Amino acid sequence: MTQRKVKVGIVGCGVVATAYYLPYLMRMPEAEITAVCDIYEGRTAACVRLFGAREQYRDYYEMIRRADLDAVFILTGPGTHVPFTLAAVETGKHVLLQKPMALTLDEANKITAAVRRAGVKTLIEPSQNSPLEPAYGPVMELIRQGVLGAPYWFTLIPGAATTYHASLGGNPYGAGAFYTEDSGGILFDFPYAPSQIVTLLGPCKSVMGSSTISVPDRYLVPEEKYNEFLAGVTDPDQANYWDVVLDLPKTEHIRTGAPDNVFSLYEMANGWTGVFHAGRPFHPVPKGFLGGLHIYGSAGNLFMGGGHFASIISSRRDLLPHVDADGWYRIPVTGDPSKTPWPKPTFGGFNYYHASTQHLIDCILQDRDPIVNVEWGRHITEMMYGAVVSARTGKRYEMTTTLTG
Ligand SMILES: NC(=O)c1ccc[n+]([C@@H]2O[C@H](COP(=O)([O-])OP(=O)(O)OC[C@H]3O[C@@H](n4cnc5c(N)ncnc54)[C@H](O)[C@@H]3O)[C@@H](O)[C@H]2O)c1
Repeated sequence: MTQRKVKVGIVGCGVVATAYYLPYLMRMPEAEITAVCDIYEGRTAACVRLFGAREQYRDYYEMIRRADLDAVFILTGPGTHVPFTLAAVETGKHVLLQKPMALTLDEANKITAAVRRAGVKTLIEPSQNSPLEPAYGPVMELIRQGVLGAPYWFTLIPGAATTYHASLGGNPYGAGAFYTEDSGGILFDFPYAPSQIVTLLGPCKSVMGSSTISVPDRYLVPEEKYNEFLAGVTDPDQANYWDVVLDLPKTEHIRTGAPDNVFSLYEMANGWTGVFHAGRPFHPVPKGFLGGLHIYGSAGNLFMGGGHFASIISSRRDLLPHVDADGWYRIPVTGDPSKTPWPKPTFGGFNYYHASTQHLIDCILQDRDPIVNVEWGRHITEMMYGAVVSARTGKRYEMTTTLTG
């Protein structure tokens, strides 16, 4: 029996498409790259040449009208996410939507209603730090069993690095994806953070926010450098712009149109309170001062990152499978990045772009709802939207959505 192939169209042949999604899709026996679309012809031509895309389009609406597609991967900048998703869903296509889902609750509600009306499968990125990431399962279970005790507080300060790294000073390219007003700015670049908090501590009840544009003048690598890079790539496994962009001169001046410095103070439904800061330092931090999620409960502390997937110290030692001589239970990062089939998995053993692609295609073929579904994405979106509203009004924002199960 021949394998049924899910016919996929990609819109946005930018960095995440060529570095992560397309190299994975081109090897999937259960998927086919039917069409690609971008406003730059050189980018779609490169995707035909490198990844075997069958058709190429300049106009998204033409692609979803004319190409024979089961699913669309929306990999453009945030300003297009809502109209592109609604158009795909309304024509019965399954969707993988890159972050952020939307910038407002109203838009997230529209997408959620449209997806449920149409009965299509929709996966909202990022799946990193969500229950789709296998390593979270044991940590979630330990918290459920009471390893941290009564809820107290948490802090999440991501983005710090001990050496020069992509995150320093902000994204080196992509004004439309990361800096324009309709990008949502730094907060909407970081749904990874509220996702991690919700995965471990459950749904959010309210949020207070404070936001500023602190360093409006930014310098980026000009857009055409990516075109030049792609035109010169001959190996589909070497189409990761991150390998070169950090060393290119940032000569294009832009004015940031969205906040680059945002605090969100969360009150979680089950009593935890904590703060998340979205911002990117311009310089490294000293060794031992890495950020990440720190959770402090009455019976134990939990630290995410810092060389391990998670580290826990707890007076409930009976719950911990083992502890090191210093009393800590450490969960190593799973998997060996050097042994994954394609180069440059991004986050330890879990490459969320690959995992999401596989999960969505599985869900389509097996008629299952994705774990990172529209209701999940909407709750995470509302946590970010709520901070924006609170920063504007000076009042606490009460969440209207929650998660069940
Ligand atoms: N860069 C990363 O490492 C990274 C990581 C995770 C998520 N993301 C998310 O992925 C998305 C894309 O990011 P990126 O880094 O690939 O950006 P990018 O700027 O490299 O890619 C976006 C692509 O979309 C194309 N595009 C823009 N408007 C279009 C339109 N109307 N029709 C067709 N094509 C259009 C652009 O020409 C560009 O090729 C963003 O939402 C971003 O938040 C990026």
